[in-house]
Amino acid sequence: MRSFFDQFPSVGYVCAHRGARSIAPENTHMALDKARQCGADLLEIDVQLSADGELVLFHDRTFERTTDIATLSEFSSRTSWDPTKLTFSELEQLDAGSWFLQADPFGTIASGEVSPNEFSLVKQQKIPLLRDVLNDCRQYNFPVNIEIKDQMGTSADGDIVGKVVDLIKATDTEQLVLVSSFNHDYLRQVKKLNPFLGTAALVENSHPEDLLDYLADLGVAAYHPDQQITDDVLIKQLKDLGIRVNLWTVNDLERAQYFIDAGATFICTDWPQRLVERGHSP
Ligand code: G3P
Ligand code: MG
Repeated sequence: MRSFFDQFPSVGYVCAHRGARSIAPENTHMALDKARQCGADLLEIDVQLSADGELVLFHDRTFERTTDIATLSEFSSRTSWDPTKLTFSELEQLDAGSWFLQADPFGTIASGEVSPNEFSLVKQQKIPLLRDVLNDCRQYNFPVNIEIKDQMGTSADGDIVGKVVDLIKATDTEQLVLVSSFNHDYLRQVKKLNPFLGTAALVENSHPEDLLDYLADLGVAAYHPDQQITDDVLIKQLKDLGIRVNLWTVNDLERAQYFIDAGATFICTDWPQRLVERGHSP
């Protein structure tokens, strides 16, 4: 059976961070469609569990930044706007697109890179179900890195990994999915439930002690450190041991080239359209 990284035999593949989030609202169908259209090689998405057990795409621990929840009277009396506290039918009521036009987080509204013709599509964006996204990935034969958000301290903590693994199986996307997380216990759980699935350890701020032994013990196929704490020596060292290194989040083209020259398999970027244009994709 083919494994996830068999589809990435070379270096420098372009991974669209939360979709093409510089030109569409992050973690929405529009951002994922834009990523595929612009020539990205794979998607990165963030996954959490709703109060009624649905896996959804969402990054933050609260809805304020990327939805209109603060303007909706029906949610004003809620004590928490945590994704794990709302049911999916409640999540469906949220507008997950208009904030992007107002905040213009990457300046692409002001610059015109997002055309006014697209504004109505932006405003229609909702929080997607992982099931629908995986079905699209299967249909387009398009790889995806599912980042399971750390749900420690929430009701979702004990259930989320099993549900992700089951859904990958049910949608027949095992070879298209790489599962990553900052919660490395989740990665152990994934391997226990389905040893075939590829996993990747996400790390921010500093590397774990005895990194090589640590990663071998986790049984991960890849290491996903913050690009700020990574250099070419580390990438080469891990690669020699058969562990892929993929960096996040790299928005500077020269920096991307540095990592590609060092042997990084993929580069997670908010600007996939630029990296693809520069010809970094093999
Ligand atoms: O998977 C790479 C990256 O997405 C991790 O950080 O906060 O953007 O989900 P974050
Ligand atoms: Mg992420």
